Amino acid sequence: MIHIKNTEEIELMRKSALLVSKTLAEVARIIKPGITTLDLDVFIGAFIKDNNAAPSFLNYQEYPFNSCISVNDVVVHGFPNKKALKEGDVISVDVGVYKNNFHGDHAYTFILGEVNDEIIRLVKETKTSLYKGIEKAIAGNYVGDISAAIQEHAQTKHGYGVVRELVGHGIGKQLHEGPEVPNYGKRGTGKKLREGMVLAIEPMINMGSREIYTDKDGWTVRTQDGKTSVHFEHNICVQKSKADILSDYTIIEA
Ligand code: MF3
Ligand code: CO
Repeated sequence: MIHIKNTEEIELMRKSALLVSKTLAEVARIIKPGITTLDLDVFIGAFIKDNNAAPSFLNYQEYPFNSCISVNDVVVHGFPNKKALKEGDVISVDVGVYKNNFHGDHAYTFILGEVNDEIIRLVKETKTSLYKGIEKAIAGNYVGDISAAIQEHAQTKHGYGVVRELVGHGIGKQLHEGPEVPNYGKRGTGKKLREGMVLAIEPMINMGSREIYTDKDGWTVRTQDGKTSVHFEHNICVQKSKADILSDYTIIEA
């Protein structure tokens, strides 16, 4: 179902999205070689509860952790674990919170220490592809305009693999609402965008081929070729002339 949000609901959704941003900003402060992704997950769960909210992912379709932490060849839905992070790792941290009846859900990819220029470029251009998509999230456009903008930047322009099996989504009282927002597609196709639609736009972009598989744990999604994958996600509200970005990367990058 697609649910159009009114002004008050959008402000509550901004609070939820910003609590995710604040959580990721705390992660940015503590993430370093030697820390485990399980340490980060425990920290994330406590921080969310201290802010009078609940982690949206925990127990969602039996997902067993507070967050998804996806390292190197893991695309998304990585299980936090007891392995220490090391210099050169590329880590997507995806967090969801439920507060005041609304979910926030977004993600940021961190790089630890020195990595080669190709990795830096993959991270930078995945983030750029997200913003290219957000530019198209205006009333009267179509979901396919967002999808095509992401695909054109990541695949056509830079030659990366665009993951197709997992997609962005509407968000609100439910973590996943309509419409689905693929990261590939054709302009002018799909659902028409209307003012007050709130979307989680989340390109998952692979250095190599777009092929993926799911681990035996039933969740962890990996690249088939073992190459690095990057994931960025924002929550945005469709408006007349320019999307309103509800989440905030500036506090994470500070
Ligand atoms: N950002 C992801 C999504 O929107 C995270 C979901 S993890 C889950 O689907 F555990 F909640 F499924
Ligand atoms: Co999402």
